[in-house]
Amino acid sequence: MMVTMSYFPIETERLLLRQFRLSDVDATAAYEGLPEVARYCSWEPRTRRRIKELIPRWIAMDGLGAKSEGIQYAVVLKASGRQIGDCVLMFDDIAARQGQLGYVMDPAHQGRGYTTEAARAVLGVGFDRVGLHRISARCDTRNFASWRVMEKLSMRREAHFREHAIFKGEWDEEFVYAMLEDEWRAQQGAV
Ligand SMILES: CC(C)(COP(=O)(O)OP(=O)(O)OC[C@H]1O[C@@H](n2cnc3c(N)ncnc32)[C@H](O)[C@@H]1OP(=O)(O)O)[C@@H](O)C(=O)NCCC(=O)NCCS
Repeated sequence: MMVTMSYFPIETERLLLRQFRLSDVDATAAYEGLPEVARYCSWEPRTRRRIKELIPRWIAMDGLGAKSEGIQYAVVLKASGRQIGDCVLMFDDIAARQGQLGYVMDPAHQGRGYTTEAARAVLGVGFDRVGLHRISARCDTRNFASWRVMEKLSMRREAHFREHAIFKGEWDEEFVYAMLEDEWRAQQGAV
């Protein structure tokens, strides 16, 4: 018998985390095209054309199969059906069960706890369903909203890299946060 399994969709109180669709191109370009959104990301503001190239790759990131790079979620607001962000769980090292979390939210919907809600659900998928041992996340030290999300998720600050690289023409200052599977389980038990 063939067992089929899918990491999509996930529902939280206010959000639906589903697989990307080709039709998400305009909604995604509306926020990933903004300079303030790309400011601390590894990429420059993304054009509609670039997003159109990326979406098939994101659709392929379904977390299944030995070659999967991870799981890419489109974040949809249940109340309106609008796609307002994205959240990714990258598989960094399958043998050591290491994952890395990333997220982007449309500025029109920031500051309402949506990213924390989505990322918490993705941590749950990573630890409870994929079976990861450790999930990390990294951000520029000036990206307050990003590391605030990591702290709200009770991830631990593991590193503060000082001037360790050049990022967009300046010294890079980076925080690394992480959570281990035991820490996740302890947190779940405490709820
Ligand atoms: C990082 C990001 C995804 C957070 O999205 P969000 O939906 O606003 O996140 P939440 O609402 O769950 O939490 C944000 C927290 O940061 C806080 N915050 C936002 N801007 C802040 C600032 N300039 N200084 C201090 N805190 C700030 C908010 O108040 C909130 O904390 P609180 O709930 O304690 O009040 C969003 O800012 C974003 O898309 N940024 C651009 C892309 C990016 O940098 N992604 C991360 C790359 S590492």
